[in-house]
Amino acid sequence: MIVAIDGPSGSGKSSVAREIARRCGLTYLDTGAMYRSVALACLKRGVDPEDADAVADVARGVSISFETADDGSQTVLLDGEDVSAAIRTPEVELAVSPVSANPAVRDVMVSLQRAVGEGGDVIAEGRDIGTVVFPSADVKVFLSASPEARARRRAVQRQGGNLATGDSVAVDEASEQEILADLVRRDTYDSSRETSPLRPAEDAVRIDSSELSFEEVIGAILALSPDLGARAEGDAS
Ligand code: DC
Repeated sequence: MIVAIDGPSGSGKSSVAREIARRCGLTYLDTGAMYRSVALACLKRGVDPEDADAVADVARGVSISFETADDGSQTVLLDGEDVSAAIRTPEVELAVSPVSANPAVRDVMVSLQRAVGEGGDVIAEGRDIGTVVFPSADVKVFLSASPEARARRRAVQRQGGNLATGDSVAVDEASEQEILADLVRRDTYDSSRETSPLRPAEDAVRIDSSELSFEEVIGAILALSPDLGARAEGDAS
């Protein structure tokens, strides 16, 4: 079975997809980490993220893989090196927008993602999973939340907390506003680019998580498919 979760930055799709993968025995595929890895490879090689041809060459030449530990945590490997933390820096965050808008880069990444899907039993999250990567996915969700709710979650995350698990910490107003501005910038970029803009698939179920708890979002998704619900109950065969 293939589950597609799309949505804007900070909608909670990573935490939700990871938890559903754990409960339902699915392989978790974080496609944003793949675009981030290409952006990091460009920065490491001194390639201008706006230089479309050079960036495409980088995308074709790198090896990106994932390792999942028993506790479900995932390590991202770029040419064999653990880059899980390095792909989350502000520098990569800036470079990843032009990199992910590059059609040649998207071709390479989509092929890699489909290869993972061929093994079956995958939950993939990103921006174009239900529209481009796996248009025949068994379950398609478009997870969104208000920009303010998303900025608050990211701000808490950066301070080491996690609103998904009820682990709240104090955040300062200025950094929350900065995160909000960056989210709005990325939303605009991701939604208005020519190649695979962020938009819900026609047959995706839309869930707004602004007012929902983590468990409520998980429950709403599990309820979309008897197969998924059964797997979560441990009935999967
Ligand atoms: O989900 P994320 O924040 O890790 O994604 C990083 C960037 O990659 C973001 O700017 C959008 C882009 N992206 C994309 O264009 N298509 C995907 N399937 C996943 C991410």
